[in-house]
Amino acid sequence: MSRAIGVMDSGIGGLTVAKEIMHQLPNEQIVYIGDTARCPYGPRPSSEVKKYTWEMARFLYNQNIKMLVIACNTATAVALEEIQTAFDIPVIGVISPGARSAIKHTKNDRIGILGTSGTIKSKAYEVSLQDLRPSIETFPLACPKFVPLVESGEHAGSMAKKIVAETLYTLKSTKIDTLILGCTHYPLLQPIIEQYLGSSITVISSGDETAREVSAILAYRGELSARHEKEDHRFFTTGSSKIFGQVAMEWLQDNLSIEMVQLPGN
Ligand code: DGL
Repeated sequence: MSRAIGVMDSGIGGLTVAKEIMHQLPNEQIVYIGDTARCPYGPRPSSEVKKYTWEMARFLYNQNIKMLVIACNTATAVALEEIQTAFDIPVIGVISPGARSAIKHTKNDRIGILGTSGTIKSKAYEVSLQDLRPSIETFPLACPKFVPLVESGEHAGSMAKKIVAETLYTLKSTKIDTLILGCTHYPLLQPIIEQYLGSSITVISSGDETAREVSAILAYRGELSARHEKEDHRFFTTGSSKIFGQVAMEWLQDNLSIEMVQLPGN
């Protein structure tokens, strides 16, 4: 029997990464968990985010997955290295792939970073970008209103436009040519963000590069699935499945079965 790829996030944001994995690796099965009941993680202390991240990681590990993708920047920043060390399967996050992708696109080395308060405070993107190219100048900005907007299913309306404009206006004077969406919820706001900032700024989300990394690792390990082995994807949420289901259908355009689950600390 084929083993699935585990994907996790504090809520529905990781679906933006799951979508890329499904697109690039259509033979693979995904097991997804979103900790909707405790989302957002962004404003929480890092010790709490770490605890919740571990609970999700153990849950997915117990589903016999062959690889784990921490599709949450906030969780990646605080727990990736620990989980990589503890697990005997490959574990990747979304920060290095996002940084790599931004470096590929920038021409003037001025890169904006949007993220949750936790991710921005951690400076994980700055470290990743400057490791790759020390001349990079970064312009970080925490966007605490974005995740609640997306989790409430309001990512496309006039309220979203207003909040995006109010939050991003300081970026207009920075002369960045590339902007990292350093939270996996933000690609749901990408059309509005792009419209507000205009076409001179390339907006990067880490899903595409993360999926490439999944593909490369599984190919190297000889663990890519063959088409005939594929089973249905499985989606778990710790909270209400209503908005999770709506966004998942809209974003993934798939018929999904969504199961509620309780983690030890829920
Ligand atoms: N989607 C998550 C991230 O990439 C976190 C959102 C949150 O729970 O605050 O950072």
